[in-house]
Amino acid sequence: MKLDSNRVAIVTGASRGIGRAIAVALARKGVRIAALARSLPALGPVTDEVGQLGVDCAPLACDVRSRDDVARAVEQAAARFGHIDLVVNNAGSGSYAPFFDAALDEFHELMQVNYFGALYVTRAALPFMVRQGSGHVVFVASVAGRIASPRHTAYSPTKFAMVGLAESIAYELEPHGIGVTIVNPGTVDTDFFSGESFRDFPDGPRAMMIPASDVADVTVRAVERNRFEVFVPGGLRFAHLVKAIMPAFFRAGARRYARKQGMIPPLIVPVPGEAAARKLEK
Ligand SMILES: NC(=O)c1ccc[n+]([C@@H]2O[C@H](COP(=O)([O-])OP(=O)(O)OC[C@H]3O[C@@H](n4cnc5c(N)ncnc54)[C@H](OP(=O)(O)O)[C@@H]3O)[C@@H](O)[C@H]2O)c1
Repeated sequence: MKLDSNRVAIVTGASRGIGRAIAVALARKGVRIAALARSLPALGPVTDEVGQLGVDCAPLACDVRSRDDVARAVEQAAARFGHIDLVVNNAGSGSYAPFFDAALDEFHELMQVNYFGALYVTRAALPFMVRQGSGHVVFVASVAGRIASPRHTAYSPTKFAMVGLAESIAYELEPHGIGVTIVNPGTVDTDFFSGESFRDFPDGPRAMMIPASDVADVTVRAVERNRFEVFVPGGLRFAHLVKAIMPAFFRAGARRYARKQGMIPPLIVPVPGEAAARKLEK
């Protein structure tokens, strides 16, 4: 899709991090932005930054877990700009907890934001694109949506689900001139890692963090070239490929790396009939 001042994009999770960087990168191309996050004050900085580029930005309060919020925000964006050309499903959060440390509510919560949020926004915006016979939907997934690693039991499945949705829906949308792009970042230097569970996030992957602007630049290029799936940094595609064609070899290497980084936690399980959880050593 050609990105210029005739285009309008909805970007979720635009208040900071990757979403904000994508909104600004799109605005540099002239694309007008409907910037979504849970609160209007949080959207102040991105609205100003886009405005300073001479581009119109509509900040819209929207919790992507709420179908009503999403429907309202998409309607407001369409009413304000007249059409919707691009949706960037980026809003999300994570967790880095051993399986039994993550409350079951957290599994639901992450699925609500990362997967259902993207589903709701996509469902609400697509009718506008189908009507005009063009459009593009971006899913900011993760390398964790293609390769699961330890302590990601609550997070990885949300991104696997997102990738499944994107892969499936792409076939239905293609005949209507609507493209789909899956963006799989590695570790990106954002507030994503500020949560309590990331206290133990190992130095190895932390040292490989890339700036959010790298993800934004790759995303913009991928939309312009109608690429179906991109990894950032690009080398992660190789890891995905190795996993696909030599899964046992890949898992052995991944296990060795995870052990070295201290990523595999002891299994602390609740034992039926006992008050205290018990640590199972292996
Ligand atoms: N950082 C990484 O290493 C990394 C790697 C791979 C993939 N990703 C993915 O990239 C996306 C952006 O993450 P980030 O690193 O930029 O994290 P971030 O800096 O924490 O930003 C998260 C964004 O999502 C929004 N958000 C969270 N919950 C929301 C909700 N219920 N409704 C609406 N908006 C909500 C936040 O807005 P408010 O809090 O203002 O509402 C914020 O704008 C996520 O989907 C994440 O899974 C990140």
